[in-house]
Parts: sequence; C-alpha cells; structure tokens
Amino acid sequence: MSQPTVRTAYDPKDMKFRHLGPSGLKVSVFSLGGWLTYGGTQKGSVVKEIMQKAWDHGIQTFDTAEVYSNGACEVEMGQALKELDWPRDEYVLTTKVFFGTGRKEPNTRGLSRKHVVEGLKSSLARLQTPYVDVVFAHRPDAATPMREIVEAFTQVIRNLNLAYYWGTSEWSAVQITEATQIAERYNLIAPIAEQPQYNAFHRERFEVEYAPLFKQFEYGTTIWSPLASGLLTGKYNDGIPEDSRFATNKAFFEDTIKKLQSPEGQAKIEKVRKLTAIAERLDAKVAHLALAWAAKNPNVSTVILGASKIEQIEDNLKALPLLDKLTPEIMEEIEGILDNRPSLPPTYNRDR
Ligand SMILES: NC(=O)c1ccc[n+]([C@@H]2O[C@H](COP(=O)([O-])OP(=O)(O)OC[C@H]3O[C@@H](n4cnc5c(N)ncnc54)[C@H](OP(=O)(O)O)[C@@H]3O)[C@@H](O)[C@H]2O)c1
Repeated sequence: MSQPTVRTAYDPKDMKFRHLGPSGLKVSVFSLGGWLTYGGTQKGSVVKEIMQKAWDHGIQTFDTAEVYSNGACEVEMGQALKELDWPRDEYVLTTKVFFGTGRKEPNTRGLSRKHVVEGLKSSLARLQTPYVDVVFAHRPDAATPMREIVEAFTQVIRNLNLAYYWGTSEWSAVQITEATQIAERYNLIAPIAEQPQYNAFHRERFEVEYAPLFKQFEYGTTIWSPLASGLLTGKYNDGIPEDSRFATNKAFFEDTIKKLQSPEGQAKIEKVRKLTAIAERLDAKVAHLALAWAAKNPNVSTVILGASKIEQIEDNLKALPLLDKLTPEIMEEIEGILDNRPSLPPTYNRDR
C-alpha cells in the first residue's frame, strides 16, 4: 500500500517553541503581528513577502485584530495566507475582538455574546478562514457581565468551532482571575494567555501584577511592542526619521513624541545608547538585545514582532542566537542601565 503524501512547507530552523500557557498549543518564541503595518502603511505583495521571510526563519505564529486598520489588516494577512498556501496545521493564527472596525452602532464592539460571535465571524470572513487558533478579548468590557463574556468565548470554541482557545489583552490580574474562576465554577472554558505590552521600558504590570497568574494558572503571554514601537532600535536617538512609525502615525504618537523631548524621554534615549554598547560587545544591535531580553523571561510565551520592511524581520530574528549569550552577569548589567526593576510585594521571608 502506498503511503499518503504529507504536504509540508515549514522548516523550524533554529526557532525555539513554548507552550501557550497551560495549553498544549506550541508557539514560536518570536511571532509576527500586523498593527499599523499590514493594511495600514503596507499593502499587497510586501505583506506576503514579510510573512514569507518570517516563516523562512521559523516563525509559525501570526497575530492580527479586527480593529487593525479597521479590518484591513485581517484582509491583507488573510489574502497573504491564502496565497502562501501553507498547510493549516503548520501555523498558528490569532486575532482579537473588542474594538470593532470603526463602526458606531451599539453592538458592533465590546464583549457581549453578540459581538464576540459576530465580531469573530466577520474577522474570519476577512481572513478567509474557518477558524483561528486563539481569539483574544482585546480589552476588558466593564459593561458586560463576566459570566456572559466567558460563556461567549466558550460558545465560539465549543459550539461554533471558530477558535480553539481564547485569551485576554490588557486585562487586570483580577479580571483574568475572575474569568478563570467563573470558567471553573460553571464548566466553561478558561482563557489561556494574556497579550500585554512588555518591553525594557514597560515592565511593572507584567512582572508584578501578573506574577500570581503565572504561578497559579501557568497563564501564557504573547507580548506586544517589544521594541517600544522602535525606540529600542535606537532609530529615534537623534530625531524622528521620515519613514518611521512616529512620522507615519504622527497623530497617534503625538504624546509619545512630546514625551521623547522631556527629561524622562531623553533619559530613555540615554539608556538606549548605553544598551547599544552592551549589544555591540556581543556583536549585535540594540534591537536584538531588547528582543532577546524580552524572550529571556520564561513567562513570555511569544514575543510579537512588528515589521514594516522585509529587512526588519530578517534583522530582528538575529535576536534568537543572542538568547544564550545573555548570561546572568549580562542581565544584571542590563538591569543596572535600565534601573527600573519593579519591586515585588514583600513576602516576609515566606517565599517558596
Ligand atoms: N493587544 C494589543 O493591545 C496590542 C497593541 C499593540 C500591538 N500588538 C501586537 O503586537 C505586535 C507588535 O507590536 P509593535 O509593532 O508595536 O512592535 P515593536 O517591535 O515595538 O515595533 C515594531 C515597529 O518598529 C519598527 N522596527 C521594527 N524592527 C526594526 C528594526 N530592526 N529597525 C528599525 N525599525 C524597526 C517598525 O516600524 P517603522 O519601520 O514603521 O518605524 C516596526 O513596525 C503588533 O503587530 C500587534 O500584533 C498588540
């Protein structure tokens, strides 16, 4: 009897993988997302080329959201995935619902059962796919009862087969705990991962508030803006380059740009310069150092990269070999420069 042929397109190269939280799902430690880029500043073949480059370097996890460029990001990434035609079981696709796509009707955003189901169905139509692997609640919804939210995500997974898992994004630890306990109490499905901002300049919530979630629930994380929107590449050290994110999305980053001129902003740039010196000693760039620093944290399941150009994705993946070079001594040296290690609540010598 002849063996059935298995179509495969994925070569993991040197990529590392982590389980997404307590689930059996494996994600590449670096992934790729499309906020502000795909469907925003980048459209058409370049999106496909960047995704192909990521894939060629072992990235198998891709992230988008209904709100990114009001749905256009999902359209672009969906079209690229269709053309790339990778076997569906070889990649992980995640999207997010909450913000809608810019429409103003009362039920076209939020986390009501209606919008979770209808929003996700619309996302899938734009992505040209029957399901995503993980759907995230892009923000908490104070106006919808938590039980309805957990029921809604359980429904899209258990009854409608529109997703395999669900997660949260920028929820408080208390909200995540509440959702998890409701799921346990009512035999519903608990979220497995949070999508928070985490980078060398933004640490407090991840390292302090979420710490109990990692211990108690093995909660996973898919972290965003690991380069602080580019600040940690050093590209803003001497002003704002013309084709950079701060220039192409001026209105959105107005506050950030203003803060950059303040003493606090200048202090950050000074830190970027000092980190650059460490990176150079390791034959790397400061962007690689910042990405490897984030990936080094064992509570990070995947670091979502952003790339407006093919060269950026190729360059950023040089962070991968750097992970092993970040010895405890170098991590301490980095801490010395950052000088922003958040303090954990006291344990009165009762650590375990
Ligand atoms: N859940 C949420 O609320 C949330 C929020 C934000 C993002 N996210 C997710 O996280 C993903 C990553 O976030 P992010 O895009 O903010 O990540 P980031 O790594 O902080 O910023 C990426 C941007 O920095 C610039 N860049 C990247 N590599 C570079 C390099 N080597 N040299 C010079 N410039 C470089 C590019 O912008 P330019 O070339 O345009 O300057 C690129 O688009 C998003 O795509 C999205 O999937 C989620």
